[in-house]
Amino acid sequence: MLAFVACCTLSCSNKSGKAENDIIPGGLWHDVDGNPINAHGGGILYHEGRYYWYGECKGDSTYRLERVKSWECWRADAQGVSCYSSADLLHWKFEGMVLPSLPHDSLSDLHPSQIIERPKVLYNEKTRKFVLWMHIDSPDYGKGVAGVAVSDSPTGPFTYLGSFKPNGLDSRDQTLFKDTDGRAYHICSTDWNESLMVSLLTDDYTRPSGEYRRILLHQKREAPAVFKRNKKYYLLSSGCTGWDPNKASYAVADSMLGVWTTQEDPCTGKDADKTFYAQSTFVLRIAGEDKYMAMFDRWKKTDLIHSSYIWLPIEFDASRMTIPWKDSWSLNLKNTK
Ligand code: GAL
Repeated sequence: MLAFVACCTLSCSNKSGKAENDIIPGGLWHDVDGNPINAHGGGILYHEGRYYWYGECKGDSTYRLERVKSWECWRADAQGVSCYSSADLLHWKFEGMVLPSLPHDSLSDLHPSQIIERPKVLYNEKTRKFVLWMHIDSPDYGKGVAGVAVSDSPTGPFTYLGSFKPNGLDSRDQTLFKDTDGRAYHICSTDWNESLMVSLLTDDYTRPSGEYRRILLHQKREAPAVFKRNKKYYLLSSGCTGWDPNKASYAVADSMLGVWTTQEDPCTGKDADKTFYAQSTFVLRIAGEDKYMAMFDRWKKTDLIHSSYIWLPIEFDASRMTIPWKDSWSLNLKNTK
């Protein structure tokens, strides 16, 4: 059994002499039952000694929405939001669909024909609820809204509260960030992806508080991922080329509502100018350590379910952060239960 579990994690094999507990970016990643992990555009929540990875569960087949002429609208039916849990970020247990799509309700935001993307979850200490935000959209991405759901448990089930335009503005690619003071923020592409918007959330994290800023104006950024290190805020993002890769960049700020200053591409090494043929989705701070892991999706636009995951460590020096390509690497976690 042990041998079976070891080969069913993020490290596919050790034929190449790599340690079994290495992360192999872009490899075939399986859960501990041996099934491919289906959690795209995702994010990770650390809660009481366990990591919870939430992602888009893609349907089996990919099709192109022919009525969209201006760009290649490749789609897979939305199966909803999946959840996997792990103590070591290597061995992932499938916890089920925490917010499944609703195939029998054609009018619902959660119908498989709709877009349910980039789910992110925060824990609210005051309400003791887990709060899930996601990009909800019409099949052609014309609606541009954010959806919110809540649960009493990290493994769901989540109750869907509905969707809306945060501060009355369109919202597409999105993420969440919880600051060390307990305040939480929603960060999304807005104005038809022209700019990003940062919204301070209400105390229960389920709505925008009304305090918000548009940032990185006219820079056309998507796929935001935010973290904080040594009192500085970092925002990693991609350009806007649909499922196709482009150059990453990051911005830094002294406060979430700005001013954000754009920096250069943090990626280095093989295929860095195309973000390693991938697109950012989240940055995880390793629990209890000054270590940060950048998470990307390597989209397969004509076969979306088989898109793979690229996780890489972030490195810092006095003036900048870098994300160097690595064929494999080891997390060496200090704390694992
Ligand atoms: C990307 C976005 C993805 C997905 C895709 C659809 O730009 O980051 O999450 O929405 O467009 O083409």
